[in-house]
Amino acid sequence: GEHLVVSAPGKVILHGEHAVVHGKRALACSLNLRTYLHVTPSTDGMVRMNLPDINIYREWKVEDLTRLFANKTQSEEVSLPPVYPPVDRFNSLCEIIGLDFMVSSNLPTSAGLGSSAAFAVALVSSLLKLSNQISDPGTQSFNPWTGDHLEVINGWAFIAEKIIHGNPSGVDNSVSTYGGIVKYQNKALERLSCKHELSVIITNTKVPRSTKHMVSNVADKLKQYPTVINPVLDAVEAISQRCQDELTSTESLDDSVIRDMMSANHALLCVLGVNHPAIEKVCRMTHDHGLTSKLTGAGGGGCVITFLPAETPEEKTQDIISQLTNQGYECWKTLVGGPGVGLH
Ligand code: PMV
Repeated sequence: GEHLVVSAPGKVILHGEHAVVHGKRALACSLNLRTYLHVTPSTDGMVRMNLPDINIYREWKVEDLTRLFANKTQSEEVSLPPVYPPVDRFNSLCEIIGLDFMVSSNLPTSAGLGSSAAFAVALVSSLLKLSNQISDPGTQSFNPWTGDHLEVINGWAFIAEKIIHGNPSGVDNSVSTYGGIVKYQNKALERLSCKHELSVIITNTKVPRSTKHMVSNVADKLKQYPTVINPVLDAVEAISQRCQDELTSTESLDDSVIRDMMSANHALLCVLGVNHPAIEKVCRMTHDHGLTSKLTGAGGGGCVITFLPAETPEEKTQDIISQLTNQGYECWKTLVGGPGVGLH
């Protein structure tokens, strides 16, 4: 049978974390840290899911899995997306062949980088492709899917995210599906055409954080000091807007705007109380090399994003990465604003 390799990117919040909870916009971008899904049709009526990077292996009889799937999609807890393929076609696909899945990823789990969404997007894309629910125009291009196809992929991936997370915003699966930048405000998503890919270092402090806990701390602060915190949230919104204008502009990128907005937003996030000594250490270490960083996501631990202007020498980048790695942090040099789901 047809062996498929599909990949989908993780996401990073560039600006607007926390403010987005209070009605402001957030800018989320694709990371070209990706999850790769290898699918091999088999003939023994089994579905196998192997994630060797994180030591997970599961297998199911196809008939058990299709029953589970039908129950899940018919249950109250999951509402189907506006466009969805008939379940029986998926069933017949599995009954005939069985499937072996192997997942490899450069994304860390539980770090706010959307690893579960990347997995979901890759998984549904492969299933929709194998069951001929989405076809490609016959080209060998990396991203043969457009418009309606991506909407179907995103809709199904959102269901998977709901099963995994309960009440996700839908940002992660959308960024992973479409790539580029997404503006998210008051539960409405808007895809922006990103004219510039940014080179960054993502550093995982590995300090565990609870998004729920951080969000509730900020809400408490806002309630206690509205006259202080509301203007902070307004300033974060202005930063997101300014950065959005810069990234979607066809003019050449002004690095100083990207830098200024990152350092300003980081300072405001500190005012909101979501900093952490480990985050501060990463910011200080990169600042010593003349680079600008901000925390990304919920804060209180988790990840830091450091902007690498185009002229940054590779030697310097590697030097910083080895210093951070020596402190026990995990670093990736990568791009933001790149392509969404793709077929290899
Ligand atoms: O935990 P992350 O990296 O997916 O980011 C959470 C972003 C918050 O704005 C803090 C919370 C939210 O639900 O938007």
